Amino acid sequence: MRSVRSIPVFENIPILVRAALNVPVENDHVMNDYRLRRALSTIRFLTERGAKVILISHIGNKGTETLAPVARALGTLIRGVSFCPETIGAGAREAIRAMAPGDILVLENLRRNAGEQANDPAFSRELAALADVFVEDSFDTCHRAHASIIGVPKFLPAYAGLLLEEETAALRGALHPAHPALAVIGGAKFKTKEAVLTALLASYDHVFVGGALANDFLKAAGKEVGKSLVSDIDPARVKELLANPKLIVPVDSLVIRAEAFDTLNARAEARIVPVEHVARDEIILDHGPATSALVAALARKMKNILWNGPLGNYENGFIDATDALARAIAASGAHSVVGGGDTVASIENLGLLPQFSFVSTGGGAMLDFLAKGTLVGIEALELYTSA
Ligand code: 3PG
Repeated sequence: MRSVRSIPVFENIPILVRAALNVPVENDHVMNDYRLRRALSTIRFLTERGAKVILISHIGNKGTETLAPVARALGTLIRGVSFCPETIGAGAREAIRAMAPGDILVLENLRRNAGEQANDPAFSRELAALADVFVEDSFDTCHRAHASIIGVPKFLPAYAGLLLEEETAALRGALHPAHPALAVIGGAKFKTKEAVLTALLASYDHVFVGGALANDFLKAAGKEVGKSLVSDIDPARVKELLANPKLIVPVDSLVIRAEAFDTLNARAEARIVPVEHVARDEIILDHGPATSALVAALARKMKNILWNGPLGNYENGFIDATDALARAIAASGAHSVVGGGDTVASIENLGLLPQFSFVSTGGGAMLDFLAKGTLVGIEALELYTSA
């Protein structure tokens, strides 16, 4: 990948930057600006050299969301930010013409145009026509074969941004950890985690599986998981991974009766049970303290720890296991590489960010990179920049 540092001329040049502005927004307010803060290094690098920085990104996946509140939040972190309610076309071109060197313009949500996710070459061409140079800095979407990721580099000189360079260097390191090494994978959906689990079982000494993903393993091991969230998959695939002695699953669970889940006193109903004692009408929402203690004891012995994905139903407030792991890793002194939205939220809420060696802005992208060692967006940069 050619680095943004090797762009020959910056002054007065319109540069299209694919940035990671997909942040949580509620009632028109950005709820977590971690990705915005991480986007600043490339933006500053370019504006300090007199470039006109045109930021493109998606937000959400309905195709209706707007980046307006995100542009406002970015404007509180760096000067010179304005917002254009169009992504391409006359309005966008006019807004770009009005830019002065060092200005920053955020264009509207890429996914409002169907051409983005369809990787329509006509849309890529229109995006490319807005600028003279392209910078890919959105590691979090480099696993998506979308127009702004793999299409635009065909039509413009393309470079890797500083954040993308940092992400790939840190995660390449995580592919070859110093031993002993522990990987923790949470979240849900076995299908999206199978490849990374297989890769990590080859290069790490221990792989702990948590979150709803653990339900698939407990079920495959013949345990009752009641009405818990499970994947619709061939149990033989899960059993194959389960047979690996490096793989660790929870030993206790926080459960509630499924019927009580939507009620106000769901929390009060919760009980901690060994994984063997989950009842048929219950759902697993987190793992319990015995599992947290087991993982923390292991973490203390590690040189390297990798973590992606929450360990419980984080969005509904079942955060204890996730927070316990964040504390255990922070206290372990191990080199730590972590990623995933809820994972980072937990670390930030606990004020533990500075105690982690590397915090990725990618969720699914981080997992795909660890599984394959590259991503389609990185391949596109390498393909077209070597020409
Ligand atoms: C993310 O939040 O993981 C990335 O921004 C990708 O978003 P997507 O899953 O909507 O493509």
